Amino acid sequence: MSHQVTIQPSGHVYSVPDQETFLGAAIDAGLNIPYGCRNGACGACKGKVLSGEVDYGDYQATALSDAEKEAGLALFCCAKPLTDAVIECREVFALNGIKPRIMPARVQMMEKRSHDVMALFLKLPSNERMQFLAGQYIEFILKDGKRRAFSLANAPHNDEFLELHLRLVPGGTFTEYVFKEMQEKAILRLEGPFGSFYLLEAFIFVKTAISRLFLLPAGRVLPRLKDCLSTFFINTQLAKWCCIGALKLWKTSICQLCRRLGQACTLTLNLFQYCQSL
Ligand SMILES: Cc1cc2nc3c(=O)[nH]c(=O)nc-3n(C[C@H](O)[C@H](O)[C@H](O)COP(=O)(O)OP(=O)(O)OC[C@H]3O[C@@H](n4cnc5c(N)ncnc54)[C@H](O)[C@@H]3O)c2cc1C
Ligand code: FES
Repeated sequence: MSHQVTIQPSGHVYSVPDQETFLGAAIDAGLNIPYGCRNGACGACKGKVLSGEVDYGDYQATALSDAEKEAGLALFCCAKPLTDAVIECREVFALNGIKPRIMPARVQMMEKRSHDVMALFLKLPSNERMQFLAGQYIEFILKDGKRRAFSLANAPHNDEFLELHLRLVPGGTFTEYVFKEMQEKAILRLEGPFGSFYLLEAFIFVKTAISRLFLLPAGRVLPRLKDCLSTFFINTQLAKWCCIGALKLWKTSICQLCRRLGQACTLTLNLFQYCQSL
């Protein structure tokens, strides 16, 4: 049995199958509710339940407090409707039309870039390529069906391998497995591409990259920035001037950031050296 859900203020209506979350069914229906971890940890998918009964699912108290729950808020990545419902949340602008696909991937190479950063190079089945836009990410699907998101660090035109930079989360199920147990040739299951932070055009990029640079954690920013910059530099000379201008403008902040991140990855070092040379 499925339930009908209406999103306000857009008025979009979609159907949520039994045992499916608000978010999962919205993605299947092509609706773009914002989300991050899909795991009840980050709070990015938080929205209001205006009417209807809801199973709140499993989530972390830091992502949704009891007071928020009492005020009618829910995490749509975990919550499931028990009746028809009306919810209130923002919807992100239309995505690029590339549909996410589930596929296996073989770990071709693992490169430890520092004590807590691992670069993974994944090979898709022969003749398969993942079409994506610079700045998007993939999700690994774990054995219990849970998901872990990681940004794609290779540029879309350089797609022989999918490159990811993983930071070790102490006690983290997936990253601890990668650092301590996983070997090259392991087979992982992933879905992608996802994400609405991707290369649009010169000025939107510069604005978004700079604002995100100071809002997102390093593990998420650096691969995206590297990816976007790479495509950006290849695409247009104008983009290069914009980036140089922006880097000059933000030289001090970027240098401080790079120093803080230390030797997190080669991109940081390159960026640091580049800023110094401006
Ligand atoms: C869109 C997106 C892109 C990302 N890209 C990258 C990337 O390129 N490189 C990278 O290293 N990491 C990235 N991350 C973060 C990455 O998904 C998490 O670090 C990863 O899920 C940890 O998995 P785990 O199983 O090791 O830890 P878990 O077992 O899931 O978690 C361990 C602890 O970390 C907390 N936690 C986990 N994920 C989050 C989160 N998203 N927000 C807040 N707290 C969290 C949990 O609450 C828990 O306490 C990205 C996250 C998102 C949402
Ligand atoms: S997407 Fe992170 S809590 Fe829902």
